[in-house]
This record gives sequence, structure tokens and C-alpha cells, in this order.
Amino acid sequence: MSADATTNGAILQARGMRRAFGGLVAVDVESFSVMRGSITALIGPNGAGKTTLFNVLTGFERADHGEWTFDDRDVSGWPAYRIARAGMVRTFQIPKALARMSVLENMKLAAQTQRGEGFFPALLRRLWCDEEARIEARGVELLEWVGLAKQRDDYAGTLSGGQRKLLELGRALMTNPRLVMLDEPTAGVNPALTEQLLDRIRSVRDEGATVLFVEHDMDVVGSISDRVICMAQGSVIAEGTAAEVVADPQVIDAYLGERHGEAAMPTSEGPT
Ligand SMILES: Nc1ncnc2c1ncn2[C@@H]1O[C@H](COP(=O)(O)OP(=O)(O)OP(=O)(O)O)[C@@H](O)[C@H]1O
Ligand SMILES: [Mg+2]
Repeated sequence: MSADATTNGAILQARGMRRAFGGLVAVDVESFSVMRGSITALIGPNGAGKTTLFNVLTGFERADHGEWTFDDRDVSGWPAYRIARAGMVRTFQIPKALARMSVLENMKLAAQTQRGEGFFPALLRRLWCDEEARIEARGVELLEWVGLAKQRDDYAGTLSGGQRKLLELGRALMTNPRLVMLDEPTAGVNPALTEQLLDRIRSVRDEGATVLFVEHDMDVVGSISDRVICMAQGSVIAEGTAAEVVADPQVIDAYLGERHGEAAMPTSEGPT
């Protein structure tokens, strides 16, 4: 693919983005882009700034400076609810499901929160009711899709870690976003549920949305990513296909280590 196609095809583009906490520069990214319709993995060592970058892009944290566009609109500095309403929705590294609400109520709340306050004037009560019914139907449909239909009336607090990640994915999809950002979707998820989750993430892409996800498991990265971006110490140090990025000496040095580099590029001596 040509460089032009890459630029034209970006759904999210950031320039000169910086965020420091006191003297610690958590994010200092010259250029960051996510191609429309791709599954893009964001990798890098602990503390590289991946979550902070997510937080800034989605309006949960302010940038010291930087500009970013989503779907060719300048959304720099927009508050989180407005970014979500524009179609860019994220999940959290630690799932935020509300433990004392049912699984279905959690789904419905995701739609309402992202819809924002005051969207439906009180006078349009009839419309509101229709909207409530539509949201509930969408919630039920998505719970079936992520495999949590049986748990719909259980307290979210009774779900396993893996089931909470599935709930997070379902919640993120309540408003039909065009970009879904997942922070470590498979962390703490058992292998069977991980497969289910990856399958669902692929379907999100196949249905036309774009997925950006933070991941430490390189098998997961290799199996579902179209593109991989590696951060270290706040900056982007490499990007390309999974094969290109795992073979990049800077990535091996900063993150994967020599053994992974060898495993990624088998020699005639066989695996070590
Ligand atoms: N609210 C905060 N206040 C102070 N320092 C912070 C804050 N949030 C993040 N940091 C620091 O910023 C750096 C980047 O953190 P961040 O959580 O973005 O890394 P990460 O790449 O997501 O790491 P991990 O893979 O462990 O989740 C770290 O040094 C972290 O300690
Ligand atoms: Mg993180």
C-alpha cells in the first residue's frame, strides 16, 4: 500500500501530542494514525504511555499540546462524551462495569451515558420510550452476540474477569461506533474466552468499524492485527505489519527482547 493510501485512509490522526505528569513525559508522539477498517495493535512495555495516549485521544485526560482528527474532524480537546458521540468509543484496562447493576442495565447505561445529557427534551416522552425500547433491544442483541445472554439479569459484579471484558466490548458497541479502542481486552481472560473475544473483534472490523487495541500477548497481536504500532517511553518507535514490527531491532531492544526476536525469525538451527 502506498504512503498516500495510508494517509488518505486514516480514520484517526494525531500530531505533536504530548502529555506530562509533573516531570514525567508519559506521551510525546510526533505522529500517530490508525487506518480506516483495520485492526491495529498498540504494543510496548509497561509505562510506555499506551493508556495515557488512549485517555488523551478519547478526552479522558487533557493533552499539554497536540492536535488530532477523527473521521477528518478536528476533535482535539473535546470532552469524552462528545468524542464518544462522534463515534470513537473506548474500553478501560480495568473494566468499569458497575457491580451492583445487572449486566443488561450496564449495557443500557453505556448507550445513555454516551448519548449525553439533555439529548431528549422531557416533552418528547413518547420518543423517549421508543428510544428506551430500542436501547434495550440492542442491549439484548449484543449480549447474545458476546455470549452473555444467560447472565443478562445477574449483577455485573458476579461476572468473571473474562466475562467483564466481553461486557466491556458489548458496552462499547451500544452506540455503533466507527472506532472502537480496547485497552488490553484479553488481559486475565482464559484461553477459550480469548478465542471468543478475538472472533468478536474480527467481526467488528468485518462489519466496517475500525479497531485499535492495546495488547501484551504477541500471539494475539500476530493473529488478528492488520497493523502494529509500538510505543516506548512515550514515543512511537515502530509501525508496520506484525512481522515487520517484531523484527525491528528497536522493538526487540525496548520491548520484546532477543529471544522473541529469534523466535520471530527462525534460523536453520531451529527454535531455541
Ligand atoms: N495520572 C497519572 N499521574 C502520574 N503519572 C501517571 C499517570 N498516569 C500515567 N502515569 C505515568 O505515565 C507513564 C505511562 O503510563 P501508561 O499507563 O500510559 O502506560 P502503559 O503503556 O499503558 O503501561 P501498561 O502496559 O503497564 O498498562 C507511566 O510512567 C505512568 O506511571
Ligand atoms: Mg496501560
